[in-house]
Amino acid sequence: MRKHIVAGNWKMNNDLADTAGLITNLKKERNLGDAEVIIAPTFVNLYKAFESLSDSNIKVAAQNMHQEESGAFTGEISAKMLKGIGINTVILGHSERRAYFHETDELLAKKVNSALKNELRIIFCFGEELQDRKDEKHEDVVATQLENALFHLDKDAWSNIILAYEPVWAIGTGETASPEQAQEMHQFIRNTIASTYGQEVADGVSILYGGSVKPTNAKEIFNKKDVDGGLIGGAALNATDFFEIVNAFQQ
Ligand code: PGA
Repeated sequence: MRKHIVAGNWKMNNDLADTAGLITNLKKERNLGDAEVIIAPTFVNLYKAFESLSDSNIKVAAQNMHQEESGAFTGEISAKMLKGIGINTVILGHSERRAYFHETDELLAKKVNSALKNELRIIFCFGEELQDRKDEKHEDVVATQLENALFHLDKDAWSNIILAYEPVWAIGTGETASPEQAQEMHQFIRNTIASTYGQEVADGVSILYGGSVKPTNAKEIFNKKDVDGGLIGGAALNATDFFEIVNAFQQ
C-alpha cells in the first residue's frame, strides 16, 4: 500500500520567529491521521525547524538544492549539506523554480541524480500550464517532464521518488483542478509509469496533488483513487488549516 503524504511548502515565507511560532502550533496538533506529514521551510530556518521537530512525527524537507556536491557556486546549497544536517527529503522541480529560476528538465535530471546519490528522498513537482490544457496537450507535457527528468532512473530508485502533480494554473491562484481532473491526470501519470517500469512500481509511487488545496476541498480531492496526498502552499502557513488538510483522509 502506498503512503498518504501531506507536505507543506512554505516557499519564501516565515522568518525565524514565524517559523518557531508555526512549529509550536503544529506540534499542538496531536492527530496526524494516517498521513506522513512534512514541512518545507526556507533554507535559513531549516536546521532550526529540524531540531524543533526532532521529538515529533512531522518531517522536514528542503525546497530546493544545487546539482553539484560542492564548489564555486555562490549562494547555493548541496544535497550533501542537506543530508549533513539530517534532512532526508527535498522538493525538486517546483513550477516557481522552473519559471523564475529557469530550471529545465535536463537540469532537474542532474539534481535528481545528486539527491539520490546522497540518499535523499525527492518530492518531484511537475504539471502543465493553462495554455497546454487549453490546447489539450496537458498529458503530453506531463509525460515529457517525467521522461526527461526521471525515466533514466532504474526501478529501485523509485522507492525514493514521490510525485507532486501541480497544474501551474492552479498554484496560488485559488483555482483548483476539479477532483475529476486531478484523478484523470493522476491515473494517466500512474499508467505512464507502469508502461515504463511495470505496474508494481507504478502502484507503489505516492502521487500528490498540489494547487490551491484548502480545508474546504482537500477531502474531495484526497478521496480520489490515485491521489495519495497533497503539496500545500498557502494553506500550510496556518497550523489549523494545514492539519484540517492532513486529516482530510480520515473523514
Ligand atoms: P498553493 O501552492 O497551495 O498556494 O496553490 C501549492 C504549491 O506551490 O506547491
